Amino acid sequence: MELRNPILRHFRLLLLISGYFYVSLTLVASIGINYGQIANNLPSPENVVPLVKSIGATKVKLYDADPQVLRAFANTGVEFIVGLGNEYLEKMQDADSAKSWVKSNVQAFLPATKITCITVGNEILALNDSSLTDNLLPAMQSLHGALVTLGLDKQVTVTTAHSLAILETSYPPSAGAFRQDLVPCVTQILNFLSKTGSPFLINAYPFFAYKANPKQVPLDFVLFQSATGVVDPATKLHYDNMLFAQIDAAYSALASLGFKKLPVHISETGWPSKGDDDEVGATPENARKYNGNLMKVFSQKKGTPMRPNGGDLNIYVFALFNENMKPGPTSERNYGLFKPDGTPAYSLGITGYNIVSNTTTAGPPSTSISGPPPPTPPAPTSSSTGYLSISLSPEKPHNHFCTLFIPCLALIMNLLFRH
Ligand SMILES: *[C@@H]1O[C@H](CO)[C@@H](O)[C@H](O)[C@H]1NC(C)=O
Ligand SMILES: *[C@@H]1O[C@H](CO)[C@@H](O)[C@H](O)[C@H]1NC(C)=O
Repeated sequence: MELRNPILRHFRLLLLISGYFYVSLTLVASIGINYGQIANNLPSPENVVPLVKSIGATKVKLYDADPQVLRAFANTGVEFIVGLGNEYLEKMQDADSAKSWVKSNVQAFLPATKITCITVGNEILALNDSSLTDNLLPAMQSLHGALVTLGLDKQVTVTTAHSLAILETSYPPSAGAFRQDLVPCVTQILNFLSKTGSPFLINAYPFFAYKANPKQVPLDFVLFQSATGVVDPATKLHYDNMLFAQIDAAYSALASLGFKKLPVHISETGWPSKGDDDEVGATPENARKYNGNLMKVFSQKKGTPMRPNGGDLNIYVFALFNENMKPGPTSERNYGLFKPDGTPAYSLGITGYNIVSNTTTAGPPSTSISGPPPPTPPAPTSSSTGYLSISLSPEKPHNHFCTLFIPCLALIMNLLFRH
């Protein structure tokens, strides 16, 4: 029994993994993951690598620059966005501080770990904190200056992630506009992004719109299942889901300030599988539909109605793991596609799948990370809500068999031959 069990487990794993890929992931062009770590029970980064690969992820967004994670993903080909926490903005205005931060948090991991972007702060402008707001652009400029000095500015961009709440109007999409009081500051940031060839990042949650107004907002529209959709009266463009309406509202807001060409990435979107009594819609079924349909829609490589080519749109789904130490309503701790032990938080087309086994041990692989929890990670260095993001790069020509099966096979071979 002792000898046979691991083998049986491998075959079970193989069947489950292939089932998973066929059911939900053969449809996805290219996935990136927001890897939030506000938790004390997550697997070690080494054990997260196969998990990220198992969902076909090619991009990971962090809320800090966790060296353990960046080392674990060396030579995996996965692209990283690293983050600088809101509390460091003031300090980063100093050129020497910025240079030493870039040296130890970015340069030290290149080129083995492909860091392509730094997000400076998270959702700063929506906080209405004037000192943070005032420090944002200088910190971005200072970090960009450090990248130039170190010769890294061609491979690493500098941006910041915004909340959709910086829009005063988001419906209809053609009326999208920034909050009046933020226009001067946003304009300066957009000038910086445009000059440095950096993307505009925005976090967009149709869930919040639904939760705030479940009687008015049709659930099928937010879950990508609307039979009729809505038409923008000004442009006559047809929207069959709310996320695309939100993205086009951001495009309209940018265009209204004269920035028609900036790439826009959705740095966070997602749906919680659990919430408090007053958080209508936070269920495993809705989370499965939202994230599953999101992947399908993006795999069709259609852009939004306003930018139908969809060429440069990346979407990062929040989040990789449920994060047990996040404050706020119950939903905040339940955005993960996965539980901390690597099993799905809800059915994404598989059951009992568990890939986060400790493959570095000499003994038989554990089928789940149980046992004593790992030590509590250092306090999060960002005020992020900690999301796993799935980034879809629809522009890339792509062979599903290769992108999904090669990592999958590699993993299986790895498991089989180590034991
Ligand atoms: C920030 O200010 C805007 C406009 O005055 C307001 O609508 C919004 O609720 C405020 N947000 C926070 C987090 O205080
Ligand atoms: C995996 O096993 C090795 C060797 O026993 C151990 O040092 C390491 O901490 C384990 N990692 C996890 C995440 O359990």
